[in-house]
Amino acid sequence: MTGAPSAGAAAAPIPTALLGGSGYVAGELLRLLAGHGGFAPAAVVSESRAGEPVGAAFPHLAQAWSELSFTAAGALDALFASSRRAVLVSAAPHGASAPAVAAALGLAARRGCALVVVDLSADFRFAEAAAWSAVYGHPHPAPELLASFERGVPEHLGAPGGDRFAHPGCFSTAVLLPLVPLLSLGLIRPEVAVTAITGSTGSGRAPSATTHHPERRSTVVAYAPLAHRHEPEIVELARRATGVTAELSFVPQSGPHARGIYATLHARLARPARADEVAAALAEFYDASPFVTVATAPPRLIDVAASNRAVLGVAARGDQLVVTSALDNLMKGAAGGGLQWLNRRFGFPETQGLAAPGPGWL
Ligand SMILES: NC(=O)c1ccc[n+]([C@@H]2O[C@H](COP(=O)([O-])OP(=O)(O)OC[C@H]3O[C@@H](n4cnc5c(N)ncnc54)[C@H](OP(=O)(O)O)[C@@H]3O)[C@@H](O)[C@H]2O)c1
Repeated sequence: MTGAPSAGAAAAPIPTALLGGSGYVAGELLRLLAGHGGFAPAAVVSESRAGEPVGAAFPHLAQAWSELSFTAAGALDALFASSRRAVLVSAAPHGASAPAVAAALGLAARRGCALVVVDLSADFRFAEAAAWSAVYGHPHPAPELLASFERGVPEHLGAPGGDRFAHPGCFSTAVLLPLVPLLSLGLIRPEVAVTAITGSTGSGRAPSATTHHPERRSTVVAYAPLAHRHEPEIVELARRATGVTAELSFVPQSGPHARGIYATLHARLARPARADEVAAALAEFYDASPFVTVATAPPRLIDVAASNRAVLGVAARGDQLVVTSALDNLMKGAAGGGLQWLNRRFGFPETQGLAAPGPGWL
């Protein structure tokens, strides 16, 4: 069914289903899987494009996945019936993902297929249904599943203990990468202000009045300042990782670029320190993390775009601290982070399929 080359994994690739298959994040995951070898896309679910070749939605993948077509969700039953184990990655919109994941888990259980789930939507990022409802304004679609998910940035959790993983959003990942070590090492007071500028792919594939190219090509605009849905998500995931509840002022911004998030954190140091001292503490925290590097110079977004890298840049003066954080929203903030979870869960090297640097020019 698939046309991409195997990377030479010893065992047969694990059949992998994708929800939200025609979207940007799913396209990015398919690109990554073409170079991984351990996971074989076996059902790329798109209700709107079922029957079309994947290359029709993703011309850059037409050769890599020449024999792969989108399917309707009904195809999952046959996949689970014929597989002892499988992976489901959901890149469906929030609110739609949880019921689709619940249905897939039910089908897999009935067919005796052990299913590992990575959810890239916002549906399983809160442990409590009430916390999710407070942000999204309606009851959680599958509250019974919430307790079964591990949630957070892979770097902040230990070895995976279960089969279900909720990856934080791209904004959240960009903020959590500096925030979690700063809080857990006691380096800052727990009041943090963040501005974070995102590119247009962060809004997904369907154009809207505010995401349309002429509307954002040459401008920057803040949106939902102090009211963005990711603010409580960041606070909650930081609390779970550190035990500290931070007060966060979060201002997202739309930028004119296509890929990448550039976040700037302002905080007060618990004790005055030099930038190189704080950078050294953060670098030690991420010593074992192949994707996170720390410097005393601000990162450039272009140096991480289209890669799974995140770079933190530290500046300090007295007790003032500024940390800049750059990553690619579709990679470290979504598909790449999701593949990190799968690599960990199945015992592949953390960097498998994710080691390539970005192009440097886009
Ligand atoms: N873009 C990013 O940078 C980013 C970063 C982190 C996390 N995320 C999250 O990842 C998910 C995918 O984002 P994206 O940017 O790829 O979005 P997208 O480009 O808009 O694609 C979403 C896909 O989901 C499918 N879909 C739409 N409505 C659906 C429904 N009611 N039920 C099931 N599927 C539905 C659509 O395909 P069909 O209609 O053909 O089925 C669509 O192609 C979202 O939950 C998003 O919040 C995105």
